[in-house]
Amino acid sequence: MLQNILLRRLSATNRLKVHLDLFGDFKHNKFHINSVFNKSNKDDFVEIKFQGKSLRFPNVWLRDNCQCEQCFHQSAKSRILDLSKFNVDVQLKTVVQDETTVQITWDDNHSSKYGLHWLKFRSFTPEDQLKYTNTLYQPVKKLWHGEDFQKICSKHDYNKIVNCDDALHNWLQDLATYGVVLIQNTPHSNIALDGIIERVGFIKRTHYGVKFVVENVANTSNVAYLSSNLQMHVDLPYYEYCPGVNMLHCLVQTVSEGGENLLADCHYTSCYMKEHHPEEYKLLTETDVEWSDVGVEHGNEFFKLYRSPVICLDRHGAVKRINFSVPQRGSHFPGSIETVKPWYEAHGLFYELNQKFAAKFKTKAGDILVFDNIRLLHGRNAYEDKSGNVRKLLGAYVDWDEIYSRLRCLKAKLYPVEGI
Ligand code: OGA
Ligand code: ZN
Ligand code: ZN
Repeated sequence: MLQNILLRRLSATNRLKVHLDLFGDFKHNKFHINSVFNKSNKDDFVEIKFQGKSLRFPNVWLRDNCQCEQCFHQSAKSRILDLSKFNVDVQLKTVVQDETTVQITWDDNHSSKYGLHWLKFRSFTPEDQLKYTNTLYQPVKKLWHGEDFQKICSKHDYNKIVNCDDALHNWLQDLATYGVVLIQNTPHSNIALDGIIERVGFIKRTHYGVKFVVENVANTSNVAYLSSNLQMHVDLPYYEYCPGVNMLHCLVQTVSEGGENLLADCHYTSCYMKEHHPEEYKLLTETDVEWSDVGVEHGNEFFKLYRSPVICLDRHGAVKRINFSVPQRGSHFPGSIETVKPWYEAHGLFYELNQKFAAKFKTKAGDILVFDNIRLLHGRNAYEDKSGNVRKLLGAYVDWDEIYSRLRCLKAKLYPVEGI
């Protein structure tokens, strides 16, 4: 191995940009190292060539990400270096390269070693960053119109998800991508949902229970527990930590007309509004609304309020979360009096477009309809409820944190990438 080691002592007084041309043939010791002096205080990089590409890594980042036992706890997989002693102006002393690693000695004589695949996986090139963001970080969302619902709503088998990691991965991947999937052949049992959720992580408990029953109830605590039409909405917009995913297990479906679900992809609708109705779009992204739920459930009082716009954007302008519910919108309007009417117009337009873009779908006993509660609007058509023809669903929530976490674990196991 030693004959393959490249060692170059570099002046500690100069700021260095080290270019390691690693694309030579190690076996024949034909390597070049080009040292380029860089006077800029900010631009301290190590530049390597790996798999035919040039990769640059900032010195400060490399030092911060040293993987040695003093800097990084091996079993906790966590950084433990002492930030109070960290020098952002850290400089290189030596850089040593072999087929698989880069070894650096710093100006304080600390030494760090990095796998080349490990570095490549953390590459700063825009293409590599995008690839990582769109695969392991979060799958890219594909937007859809209701007309395409049959194509995009994939069907998954309950037992396969419970017993096979591939099936579990595919279900969660489709859910993250399209925001809606159907699980079929679910056992007729009150605990069937738990079997699926345990494969993912944890249930999200709310004031409606660990799980909740959706059926026609007189003197209900929530208008969802009626047999009448349920306008399209998201569940629990009055939670700051709003449940990410809604799972509705159909135990009994009405045999007569009605009881279908309506589903609309609000990312599609938002995109459409941004292009065709920019003023209304802006109002819905900027105006806070007070979402509310006040009452008693299972003997527990609750008084939930949360202020947030209908369309919540992140700082890149991407839709992060949708809030919408006619029954759970409070009557306090936290904005100025002038914005009220234009906001109502924009809000009405948003609803009208979602209705236009919605798909209609009727679940059967044994189906679990799983959908992204902060991306889709869902509703239900009125149905008949009488003895001999009832409808009963069992619902549960799971958070996106748990789903993305499980998805990443599965990707790491089923599709391992070197350097992960
Ligand atoms: C709900 C709901 C849908 C249905 O309970 O919030 O949206 O199909 N139910 O009854
Ligand atoms: Zn270290
Ligand atoms: Zn609902």
